[in-house]
Amino acid sequence: MSFSILGTGSALPSRVVTNEDLSLLVDTSDEWIKTRTGITERRVCTEESITELAVQAAQKALEDSGCSADELDLIICATMSADYTTPSMACVLQMQLGASCPAFDINAACTGFLYALDVAAGYFARTADQKILVVAAEAMSRLVDWQDRGTCVLFGDGAGAAVLGKGNDLLAIQTGAKGNISSLYAENGWGNSPFHKQAEGDVASGCSSYLHMDGQEVFRFAVTSMVQTVEQVLDEAGLAKEDIAWLIPHQANIRILDSAISRLKLPKEKCLTNIAVRGNTSAACVAILLDEASRGGKLKKNDLLALTAFGGGLTTGACILRWSR
Ligand code: ACO
Repeated sequence: MSFSILGTGSALPSRVVTNEDLSLLVDTSDEWIKTRTGITERRVCTEESITELAVQAAQKALEDSGCSADELDLIICATMSADYTTPSMACVLQMQLGASCPAFDINAACTGFLYALDVAAGYFARTADQKILVVAAEAMSRLVDWQDRGTCVLFGDGAGAAVLGKGNDLLAIQTGAKGNISSLYAENGWGNSPFHKQAEGDVASGCSSYLHMDGQEVFRFAVTSMVQTVEQVLDEAGLAKEDIAWLIPHQANIRILDSAISRLKLPKEKCLTNIAVRGNTSAACVAILLDEASRGGKLKKNDLLALTAFGGGLTTGACILRWSR
């Protein structure tokens, strides 16, 4: 017993930040960003909190599924940029939605939505849970250094959600990690502990809490891992590449997607993307793309979807889902 997707939702900040806008902040250009990443614009939080976006995405998913908040048995949020360290985003969401179920956050960076689906599948298998809400929400604008052109041009903010019901549409899922700090990290500070011995370069003494990334290293990891994980879940489900109706991948760089699709020998038209207008919203990417594809009428009943993501950790994840709505 796994699950079926009963409804999806997403929410974005209203402020559009174009490449031109960024060229006023750092030494970059629309031409560089478009050709190196495929991104033209992204949404960035101004007055909205990331919790508000998560609530909106969750409410839309509940409405789409025809379920009410009091039917939920569990809420899982995937985020690394929540408004609070504690309470978790999931607990705040539980309160604001008026639900009464257990709730917790997970952090698997950009792979968070896939990890959350995997955790939900475990709950469905070992408990009597009937309905689980999974939300992926990120305010990457709070993590990036807006003076670093190597990272600030890549990311956006947003939230995506799915209501899952007990069912049989998850045909295969895999998550993985290859522990690594140097390729992609954002460090926490020590607050004002009088006991902590500060090393040079520590967060408290500078601005190293921002996201740091070795772009080329992540690029290589991304292409290899996307190809491997999609092949593994297809294998596990006993399916061939031709059976996939839509590839719904993490949106980090259009060149990563082109490379992965070409190695997977999939037609380009089968790969859904919204990176041009959303940028990389970390864990929220796959959830937002899934909702936009559903609401845009792209997904047909019984389509087989391959979801795949990679991210800080370094983490990876992929799954095959039947779209039975
Ligand atoms: N505008 C103009 N020039 C820039 C910019 C910019 N925004 N950013 C970097 N450059 C410059 C560099 O300084 C460098 O200049 P130099 O040659 O004078 O030193 C030159 O452009 C080339 O830089 P590279 O890093 O080699 O550029 P590359 O083609 O590798 O593209 C990029 C960089 C877009 C970051 C790419 O490596 C990438 O997408 N990597 C994967 C990133 C990723 O997936 N991140 C998310 C993963 S997980 C998560 O989502 C949290």
